[in-house]
Amino acid sequence: MPKKTLGHKVSHFSVGDDKDPIVVDLDKINVEELDITVESNEIEFIRKLIIKPAGFPIKPFDAPETIHITISKDPKLFQAYATEQWQGLAVQINDYIFDQLLLPDFAFKITGIEPITAYRIGADTEIILIQDSTPTPRFAEVSFDEIIGNTQAKEKAEIVIEYLKNPSRFGEWGPKNILFHGPPGTGKTLMARAIATSSECAFFAKKGTTLIGLHVGDGAAKIHALFAKARKHAPAIIFIDELDSIGLNRSYQSVRGDVIEVTTALLAELDGLEPNEGIITIAATNNMQLLDIGLRNRFEEEIDFPHPTEKEREEMLRLFSKNTPISMEVDFARIAKITPGWSGRGLHEKLMKIAIHRGIREKLTLITTEIFIDLVKKSEKTDKNSRPPQNYI
Ligand SMILES: Nc1ncnc2c1ncn2[C@@H]1O[C@H](COP(=O)(O)OP(=O)(O)OP(=O)(O)O)[C@@H](O)[C@H]1O
Ligand SMILES: [Mg+2]
Repeated sequence: MPKKTLGHKVSHFSVGDDKDPIVVDLDKINVEELDITVESNEIEFIRKLIIKPAGFPIKPFDAPETIHITISKDPKLFQAYATEQWQGLAVQINDYIFDQLLLPDFAFKITGIEPITAYRIGADTEIILIQDSTPTPRFAEVSFDEIIGNTQAKEKAEIVIEYLKNPSRFGEWGPKNILFHGPPGTGKTLMARAIATSSECAFFAKKGTTLIGLHVGDGAAKIHALFAKARKHAPAIIFIDELDSIGLNRSYQSVRGDVIEVTTALLAELDGLEPNEGIITIAATNNMQLLDIGLRNRFEEEIDFPHPTEKEREEMLRLFSKNTPISMEVDFARIAKITPGWSGRGLHEKLMKIAIHRGIREKLTLITTEIFIDLVKKSEKTDKNSRPPQNYI
């Protein structure tokens, strides 16, 4: 049983009332007699404290759901940081402790204390941060072989990849700002993913809507931060998907001031007020008409993503059917013929996927041409029914 010694250094104490105190001089009595010991099974200082990030107790709407914290590879550095702010705190398991320095109010939950009877964080407490393995945001890798058609975009992609490998070869003629445009589901995002997969450089992908801020100035700040980050990691690609959500014509200033400030910030960045060496911006939209004309002008090339041709539709269907859980015996040439105007996404999601779902539900061992024809007919019917009323958009 550990013994606690009351080790206060007291030189004298007094008893009696204020008027007539009796002063006892400690130096004159035998100190041994005053040595009081207390039996205790508590150990004050924690040897090992295990904590886990718990998040912010309150957060702004646009803050990410999870914050993944990485700490220095040198454990002593984190130890010094953590000790500085938490030393002296009395804690118990399941308590929260807060970071006050870098991420004010960010909470950590205490998940382990050793020995279990200890309660105070001391100068020698080893503080161990553990993390749930939060998957780092990744996109599925895509190879150019998985993209049917879109030749113009593939040629440009080649240039982009070559440039990122060897910018000096291009001198002042490097590609810079590229605009992908075309109807929904025609492979714009897919192409950006393929470029990111092949070019081993930093890739910053943002959806237009995520760049709009809550308060005046937020949106512009997000754009500048995005470009600053890319510059730091150059050579890099910035991909802004769904550009029309932020690249609005500036005549909408009075109704969408929040968005227009983003447009203006983007214009400034694309103009390269700062040296943008080694940074390529690719933006995608399916609504070119809404785009600010000045913004549209900043893109050196507008790359069209048209609906696939009959031959391309056939190729796509063949490609998609390569990896299905049920065998297919389908005349894809025939299906391609009856699907003019369908996009790659339509063929993938509304045809191939639904056919597979039907096969699974009906416990089929083979999916046939008839199933596909039936789905095309059904889908065209619903398509007609779901047209927006005229002048709606
Ligand atoms: N050219 C293509 N080759 C192969 N698959 C395609 C092609 N185009 C579209 N697809 C299929 O459609 C899916 C959706 O395509 P994607 O997300 O690239 O469309 P998008 O042009 O970005 O559409 P949106 O304008 O709506 O954002 C892809 O994941 C792929 O399965
Ligand atoms: Mg897209």
